[in-house]
Amino acid sequence: MEDLTRTRTSADPGRVPGRLAGRRIVVTGAASGIGRTTARLFTQEGARVALFDRDAGGLQRTLEATAGVTFQVDITDEDAVQAAVDEAAAAMGGIDGVVNAAGIMTKGLAADVRAADWRRVLEVNLTGTYIVSRCCVPYLLEAESATIVNIASAQGLLPNAPGHTAYAASKGGVVNLTRALAAELAPKVRVNSICPGMVDTPMADGYRANVGNYALKRVADPSEIAEAILFLTSSQASYVTGAALAVDGGRSYH
Ligand SMILES: NC(=O)c1ccc[n+]([C@@H]2O[C@H](COP(=O)([O-])OP(=O)(O)OC[C@H]3O[C@@H](n4cnc5c(N)ncnc54)[C@H](O)[C@@H]3O)[C@@H](O)[C@H]2O)c1
Repeated sequence: MEDLTRTRTSADPGRVPGRLAGRRIVVTGAASGIGRTTARLFTQEGARVALFDRDAGGLQRTLEATAGVTFQVDITDEDAVQAAVDEAAAAMGGIDGVVNAAGIMTKGLAADVRAADWRRVLEVNLTGTYIVSRCCVPYLLEAESATIVNIASAQGLLPNAPGHTAYAASKGGVVNLTRALAAELAPKVRVNSICPGMVDTPMADGYRANVGNYALKRVADPSEIAEAILFLTSSQASYVTGAALAVDGGRSYH
């Protein structure tokens, strides 16, 4: 059983160190925002991380604060993902967990968004999440207490923002993909999704959140999403699978 009485660090008196000690985790979208923040937090918690992203420069900057290996890969390219997953597993000695944080957003009313743009959003956010997960499954099935955490969106729960049809559809798909995988991979692998509201990352640049829609009247810092991802990845969530955890300041009910 985990010893929660260990000495806490003076740097952050609230933190119990080493919640992911020895875990080997693939993090996609690791070159920016939520993925980068998660990779750094996971490193602080004792994990080894394999950083996946298509942005080589961003990966390099993330690497400076993580004990990681980087893979410049587009998550929609199944052969490239398979090769990167195999290499990551060889480098880390296996894979215990996946965080699917790579994603894109497009804005536009349904009448204006052509099918090609719709397909790209579905391809990255939903199919890409599926591809990375399926390539990791054989490794996860060999691991102890394996996990997948998919970053969906509050719009996957309550798609009430005009101009986000494709994005909301893709994220609703991620919520249900998560549930389907949770059923299929139980009891070996726990699979959960996080549904953030607006988060202060490059993806949100140029958008002005109406914080009146949020009970907490503010957008999230990426660290607040990373902490929820940590919870679902750690043994503290050992009885949680198939969940869609809203980390949205109350947006989805407010
Ligand atoms: N920022 C928000 O307000 C918000 C809200 C809800 C959900 N999310 C979700 O959280 C996740 C992370 O978003 P973020 O805010 O950190 O955004 P971000 O733009 O800062 O980071 C996304 C990362 O994904 C990478 N990426 C995109 N397409 C890729 C592809 N095909 N292959 C490999 N890498 C790819 C990008 O290069 C980037 O590094 C996304 O799934 C996003 O939809 C974000």
